[in-house]
Amino acid sequence: MRMVDIIRKKREGGELTDRELAFFVQGFSRGEIPDYQASALMMAVFFQGMTRRETAALTMEMAHSGDTVDLSQISGVKVDKHSTGGVGDKTSLICGPIAAACGVKLAKMSGRGLGHTGGTVDKLESIPGFQTELPREEFFSIVNRTGMALIGQSGNLCPADKKLYALRDVTGTVESLPLIASSIMSKKIAAGADAILLDVKTGSGAFMKSREDARALAEEMVRIGQGVGKKTVALITDMDLPLGRKIGNALEVIEACEVLRGKGEKRITELCLELAANMIYLGKQAETPETAREKATQAVASGRAFEKLCEMAEAQGGDSSFLRETEKFRLSPVKWEVKAPKTGWITALNAEECGLAAMELGAGRETKESEIDLGAGISLLKTKGDFAEAGEPIALLYGGSAEKCRRGEERFLAALELHGEQPEAAPLILERIEKADP
Ligand code: URA
Repeated sequence: MRMVDIIRKKREGGELTDRELAFFVQGFSRGEIPDYQASALMMAVFFQGMTRRETAALTMEMAHSGDTVDLSQISGVKVDKHSTGGVGDKTSLICGPIAAACGVKLAKMSGRGLGHTGGTVDKLESIPGFQTELPREEFFSIVNRTGMALIGQSGNLCPADKKLYALRDVTGTVESLPLIASSIMSKKIAAGADAILLDVKTGSGAFMKSREDARALAEEMVRIGQGVGKKTVALITDMDLPLGRKIGNALEVIEACEVLRGKGEKRITELCLELAANMIYLGKQAETPETAREKATQAVASGRAFEKLCEMAEAQGGDSSFLRETEKFRLSPVKWEVKAPKTGWITALNAEECGLAAMELGAGRETKESEIDLGAGISLLKTKGDFAEAGEPIALLYGGSAEKCRRGEERFLAALELHGEQPEAAPLILERIEKADP
């Protein structure tokens, strides 16, 4: 078999066999297939797409390109959750403790942030002492004791995807449905949970800008999960607007605490309750999504969900007094007020631009090696649908220097649109997909 023939076949719109895909993934992982041939194939897939069978075969080859995690030492139903990424997306820190407080087991491996989207591991590291690298045995033992643990991706999980994703990132081939679906699902399958909840984002801050593309991606991933016997549910949710009122690592932990204490903004609270309800349902702790939702609401109202976050933080070495008294978090020294440039209703707050503003402040990474400022970020005083008078404060920026704040403000103002008419409230949860055609 020759790689050049596989590239030509895909270039002409042909369907690759399982053997051809295995030849590519294994050869690329071993370093026998050079980057230029892998890039050419990725670009051919970008233009020609893949059939369902090809996407499923590529997923399984990547899932088995390295170690797979055996979670059998953890009792109960293990549920994993994945978001396709967004700005201000701290939902795992909220729906995880709610679901764990209701009996679900969550052994989650999360990534670090790159570009304008944040990563759960960075957020957790803003809690003093919190360890995101733990030996496997300790990770399992914490999940067995507390119901949840959240660590960074460790071991040799899906090395083929790791290599391929880095290549796609620099060859303009990330935004391909079969490549995103196989990349995400290979990691979820290798991570070993029994059931998977996917939060597929759509809008300005997401990979999938249109709802149709997001639906097609969600269906493909649900189909792949079903195909390997893992119950998989996807929610399609809006990412046109940053999620919640805070963007940045420590700021997002503070907001997670507010939501878990029942004092969060309505939109993010609603999304987290819905995500948690689906995890409770998938984790077989409720018969229907409706009863699961009641359990989730109860877990927040009773304070059990917040206590679960504190318990998990302590188990992973974190100082939970910061969660109980969030004013202890040290935010970046320069606090900068952004004022409304004119009077009007906020009709748009572009999520991607807000993410880039947070990066200017130091909250995100340009490259994998960049250092981030855990105390930097944005606190929104107003958001889409609110009215602002010219000169009224609409956001607080936190940065390491006035220059960073000035650049952040410039970006933030580019995200903002103010008009004479109040915009219609856009729904946050757009669809739920539980079954896809095989
Ligand atoms: N996230 C992933 O893990 N892979 C992709 O291809 C896109 C988003």
